[in-house]
Amino acid sequence: MRVLQLGVGAVGEVNARVIAREPAVEAVVLADIDESRLREVAAKLPPGKVETLVLDASDHGALVKAAKGVDFVLNALATAWDIPVMEASLEAGRHYLDMGTGGPREITGTADLDEQLALDGEFKKRDLAGLVSFGIDPGVSDMFARALHDEFDTVESLTVLDGDNATVDGYELACSFSVETMIEECLLPPCVFRDGREERNEALSVFREFEFPAPVGKLTLCNVDHEEAQLMPLYLRGKGLRNAIFFIGLDPRMIDAFKVFRILGLHQREPVDFQGAMISPIQFVASRFPRPVDLAGKLHGAVCVGTLCEGTIGGEPVRRFRYQITSHDDSWEKWGVQGTAFQTGASAACAVTQFARGEIARRGVFPAEVLDPAAYMAEMQKVGLAVGVVDLPAD
Ligand SMILES: NC(=O)c1ccc[n+]([C@@H]2O[C@H](COP(=O)([O-])OP(=O)(O)OC[C@H]3O[C@@H](n4cnc5c(N)ncnc54)[C@H](O)[C@@H]3O)[C@@H](O)[C@H]2O)c1
Repeated sequence: MRVLQLGVGAVGEVNARVIAREPAVEAVVLADIDESRLREVAAKLPPGKVETLVLDASDHGALVKAAKGVDFVLNALATAWDIPVMEASLEAGRHYLDMGTGGPREITGTADLDEQLALDGEFKKRDLAGLVSFGIDPGVSDMFARALHDEFDTVESLTVLDGDNATVDGYELACSFSVETMIEECLLPPCVFRDGREERNEALSVFREFEFPAPVGKLTLCNVDHEEAQLMPLYLRGKGLRNAIFFIGLDPRMIDAFKVFRILGLHQREPVDFQGAMISPIQFVASRFPRPVDLAGKLHGAVCVGTLCEGTIGGEPVRRFRYQITSHDDSWEKWGVQGTAFQTGASAACAVTQFARGEIARRGVFPAEVLDPAAYMAEMQKVGLAVGVVDLPAD
């Protein structure tokens, strides 16, 4: 299988390097607007297996042409590109995967999950697979939810928890993944599934503490908008699910900065006129942060992403947490990247390598809830993403 790796930022680099190790992947075509980044990443792949292409994703014709040259399109651009890239993949007749979604359109001006899932029929008609939201969270978090759902007799609530205890060298404010995505998901009123109904909380208003397994430990987390709060109720409702929510650990200084961005409208995507030039405020603000790739070697600590299921097994109440922990320092030592990039990029790559070997036969547009969790977790172990499970005492 030939793969088009669209975007070779922090996560895209890891996607490409992990899938290139799979014998069923013949070649990886790296495509990005940034030529120097293409050279940098290409040098880390086996020479006979890599090609490069300077490409601007806003050029629809170029996207379709690039997709036609491969079997599978792996989209590691900012989420605003999801629908344009899905449409190009459909036009070229190629399979597709991304690691998250944007929207809702009425707030951010870009497509959300509903628009992606609505392409299910089009993908099926062409016998194509569209794997959506397949990173670590969303992605592995949804697969953990599916595994837990299978293990429980009744499921009352599913909570995704993402905690990072890292310190960063050299920067006051930093974000370990796409800065645009982070600003958007933190300032949206987060979607939550409460008492069996989809609702929205106020942005940056709901906090909780959680004791992650060592070495991450206890952290304060904030509810932000995330795909899982929509996906888990959509796909895992069969055992009585009433509540679904997502929490992430945020540096308090970052929360203060987000509030200032909101007051000044700096989180808006729509371009504004600045001294005769049209600029997108969110893209300008994101450009002032270190790029996620610039944090390689500068983060120290570990990140844990997991899903907590509360329900019953054999009539007894159970609180079970399935999780994955990645050390930023180990990722730097073994791969020369930071932990979030490794955790996300390698997780998505696991779905692609299974697909390349013909182990994912499903067609249409679907998230990680529908895949076989045991096969997925076995693939994760192979690339060094250890998974854990623990039963917690009553809350
Ligand atoms: N699901 C998860 O767990 C998870 C976690 C982290 C990141 N993500 C997602 O993964 C994606 C990649 O994140 P990242 O941290 O690598 O971002 P990044 O900002 O490091 O990389 C983005 C890349 O896109 C390229 N690019 C920008 N505009 C382009 C254009 N017009 N045409 C072609 N290339 C262009 C940039 O040069 C850069 O190399 C994002 O969508 C992010 O939301 C998902």
